[in-house]
Formats: sequence, C-alpha cells, structure tokens
Amino acid sequence: MTTTATRPGAGRARAAIAAKTLRTDRWWFAPLITFLGLSAWLAYGLVRIYMHKWYYVEDYHYLTPFYSPCVTERCVPEAAHFGRPLPGWWIIPEASFTLPFLLLFRLTCYYYRKAYYRAFWLSPPACAVPDGHKKYTGETRFPLLGQNLHRYAFYAAMIISIINTVDAIIAFQSPSGFGFGLGNLVLVGNVVMLWLYTLSCHSCRHIVGGRMKHFSKHPVRYRAWGFVSKLNARHMQLAWITLGTLVVTDFYVMAVAAEWWPDLRFIG
Ligand code: FES
Repeated sequence: MTTTATRPGAGRARAAIAAKTLRTDRWWFAPLITFLGLSAWLAYGLVRIYMHKWYYVEDYHYLTPFYSPCVTERCVPEAAHFGRPLPGWWIIPEASFTLPFLLLFRLTCYYYRKAYYRAFWLSPPACAVPDGHKKYTGETRFPLLGQNLHRYAFYAAMIISIINTVDAIIAFQSPSGFGFGLGNLVLVGNVVMLWLYTLSCHSCRHIVGGRMKHFSKHPVRYRAWGFVSKLNARHMQLAWITLGTLVVTDFYVMAVAAEWWPDLRFIG
C-alpha cells in the first residue's frame, strides 16, 4: 500500500503554475448565480421586514412568515399570538423573536456555508480555483467557530416551523367560519417545504441516527434516519426551494393585504 511517507512527490511544494487556474469551463457561473440569488433574496427580505405593513389579511387570518410571530406594539392584535412585548420602533422588526434564529440557522447551514464561502468570500470560488484570500484559518477560530452553533439553531428552527404550522392552520378561517382559498394552499405549501428543509438538516440526521452502535437495536430510529437521509440528499434543492416559497408566500399575503388582488376563495 502506498503511504503518505512513500507517495511520490510527498513533501514537495505545489507545482509552480503561473496560471490562476487550469480550468477552462465556466466555473464562475455557479458562484455568480448564487451571489445574485442570495443578494436578491436578502434585499427582498430586508425591504419587506422594514415595510411594517401588508403582512396580515384580517378576513382570512393570513400572516406572512416574515412577520411571524408578530411581537411589536405595531402588530395587529389578531396577528399577535404571543402578545406584543416589544416597542413599535421602526428599527425593530415585527418578528424579532424568530428572525435572528432563522438567520443563524441559514447562515450556519452546511449547504449555505459552501454557497456563500464560494460566492461571497471566494474561499475558494470553485474547485481547483485559488482562494481569494492569502490566509485561511478555517472554522477553527472566531468568527467562523460560531458555525458550530448550527445544532442549536436547528432546535430553534424546529420551534419556528411549529409556529408557522400553527399560522397555516389558523388561516383556515373566513368571516363565516371555516374557509379555504388559494392563500391557504400557498401557506400550507410553504410550511411543508419548510419542514422538509428543516428535517433534511445534517444536524437533524445526526440527532436522529448518530451516536448509535447498533441500528438493529433501534428500528424506529433507523427508519427515521433512513427518511431523513433521503431528504438530506436533497438539502441543497430544499434550501433554494424554501427561499422561493418564503418569497411567494410573503408576496401573496402582501398582495391580498394591499388589495392588489383578491384571494381566490374555494370555500368561505
Ligand atoms: Fe443545512 Fe442544517 S445543514 S439546515
């Protein structure tokens, strides 16, 4: 067997190649698209969070996930399921209890880390392309050491997914009682995708199936681990899909609340 000590070339410096990279394909395309996509999403989110309006449809109890739970004095009382303990200052978002945890969850996500390390920090921008920075300290020091908080952010994200689920259930109302419209489909679709993304998390997979010596002695955990593993293989897709469903849901609620168009009602 060839060992590190005997491998030809071991211990020698990297070959002196003048070119920045020998790749001739469009390696820059994926980081560019990622940069544009994430930047556009952040811009939309910031604008919406600081709009402080058009987040709730009173007739049908539609609440956008960007304002859930609504906890400032500015909140419509019907949308404030956890009270309104925070002042209504412009700088304070309505969903101040949840947004920091959601941000932490996405920022420390294994997939998003890869995405923004490449697209924003160029560290490195692609495989076989040099790092954009001279020094690389990895995730072993501050501030990237904080990426280890991901597991705790996952627990918070689970609670927030439950809150979003309750919001979607409460929305099955109309002025005449039970109601069902296109807005419900949008809200439920978003919640389903959020659950799939959250459950596909690498930390979730470890919590469900990690630290076990024998799967045969834990058949329920084994089945759950198998399910989560299948989702985990689609984690990147779910990460992007949920960014999309969040925007679509928020935009739909905003459009109905602002009376740009009426909700398409099937019942009630
Ligand atoms: Fe992406 Fe946990 S690894 S959410």
